[in-house]
Amino acid sequence: MRIAVVGSGYVGLVAGACFADLGHDVIVVDNDQQKLAALTRGEVPIHEKFLPELLQRHRGQRLKFSDDLHAAVRASAAIFVAVGTPPTDSGDADLSYVESVAREISGGIDDYKIVVEKSTVPVYTSEWVRKIILRNGADAELFDVASNPEFLREGTAVTDFLFPDRIVVGADSERCAGVLREIYAPLSDGSYYQRADAIPHPDRAQVPPPLIVTSTKSAELIKHASNAFLAMKISFINAVASICESVGANVQQVCRGIGTDSRIGPRFLNPGIGYGGSCFPKDLMAFRSVARECGYEFRLLDEVMRINEEQRQRFLRKVRNALWTLRGKRLAVLGLAFKGGTDDIRESPAILLIQSLVQEGCVVVAYDPAATERAREVLRSNVEFASNPYDAAAGADALLLLTEWEEFSALDLAQLNRKLRYPIVIDGRNLYDPEIMAAHGFSYYSVGRAPALPEGSPTSGDGRGQGQKKI
Ligand SMILES: NC(=O)c1ccc[n+]([C@@H]2O[C@H](COP(=O)([O-])OP(=O)(O)OC[C@H]3O[C@@H](n4cnc5c(N)ncnc54)[C@H](O)[C@@H]3O)[C@@H](O)[C@H]2O)c1
Repeated sequence: MRIAVVGSGYVGLVAGACFADLGHDVIVVDNDQQKLAALTRGEVPIHEKFLPELLQRHRGQRLKFSDDLHAAVRASAAIFVAVGTPPTDSGDADLSYVESVAREISGGIDDYKIVVEKSTVPVYTSEWVRKIILRNGADAELFDVASNPEFLREGTAVTDFLFPDRIVVGADSERCAGVLREIYAPLSDGSYYQRADAIPHPDRAQVPPPLIVTSTKSAELIKHASNAFLAMKISFINAVASICESVGANVQQVCRGIGTDSRIGPRFLNPGIGYGGSCFPKDLMAFRSVARECGYEFRLLDEVMRINEEQRQRFLRKVRNALWTLRGKRLAVLGLAFKGGTDDIRESPAILLIQSLVQEGCVVVAYDPAATERAREVLRSNVEFASNPYDAAAGADALLLLTEWEEFSALDLAQLNRKLRYPIVIDGRNLYDPEIMAAHGFSYYSVGRAPALPEGSPTSGDGRGQGQKKI
């Protein structure tokens, strides 16, 4: 199949590389000349496991890069739109990039093609895309608009794409659904997984994935509803963690007890400093706006967002409780990306927390395995960047763990203790066992669990017993 993918960001580039790996001929189109030049030179602009291998395998052969959308549309049977849909000031999705692409696609429709929304868009978008393409002169018989939402997660984007839980195809005609079935056939019939050169099978994946065909509107809703549900799970467990802190229960034990119920499941039940990233915050706001436009006040989503915001404030209070005053304190921060495995710092709770700490007068020395360069662009005054966790810790009044990178859960604790000015660790991701940290001489504060203090150490700054803390 000949495919065009418009947008070479996290979704477009990964989708393009994976479609090529499934055997399709792909043109990835972007209007960012710098990005295109870097891609053509062989650079990999984002940090994603297996992406360099796939680009190396297909670049210049089954995978090409171009700024000529018109030509790419004419050459393709399916055009996937994967441009950004950022939030506007009012919280709606800004669909102007989608609209401008739809306008341009129109002129290239010379025989039957499908235009597929890969970006996350509100439920009425497919109708608008169709209208815009028609308004700009395309023949109504020559195209269909479909929705094929993307569920990949940054950090595991390639394996998520190739080993998905499900493939959702929203199409309003059998002809259109047929094209999408054909594109995904190597996954849905399992043949991709038999190949010797297939990307390695991740632990949890069940193959082949089911291909679920729905109406276009249902597919659009599935994506927003999925993200809203996952964010709700995170806020729910963060609220439970707050109660654990005030009564002296252990949220890890509570999570195990809840998550082993097969109706609930253990995933996304990790308390921390709240969700972030380029999707959950904006998708929740967009879903709430869509619901409001349809006459439904989705107040549950307001509460999910409120708990998420509050979770960061609670963490800041934890830092103050552990250190007393913040002005002039030197803090080592491990983690800048919004989650482990990615260099994406969009809406990263780590970045937002660092900005608050700097505002309160702290000097921050940060380390992240992948996101430092991006973070440098937004964190300027009073933030230094270290090249490893131990340099970040050197002479610091405390260490904060803000992103769940794998390497942060295997630190050399003795070395860390020697480097810090005071052995205080405030862990926003619950990466360590409190008892082990106390045994290594740390005063250790985490989320939803009692602080652990080394024997004979002074208690935390608020002077109250953990059991009496207010929520
Ligand atoms: N990032 C994720 O984890 C993820 C996961 C699932 C869905 N999504 C959704 O996918 C969409 C894209 O997200 P992303 O993170 O890949 O965005 P991104 O910002 O990383 O990439 C968007 C790309 O589109 C390009 N672009 C914009 N206008 C264009 C135009 N007119 N012609 C050609 N290219 C154009 C930009 O230059 C950019 O390279 C969003 O709707 C997002 O919500 C993202």
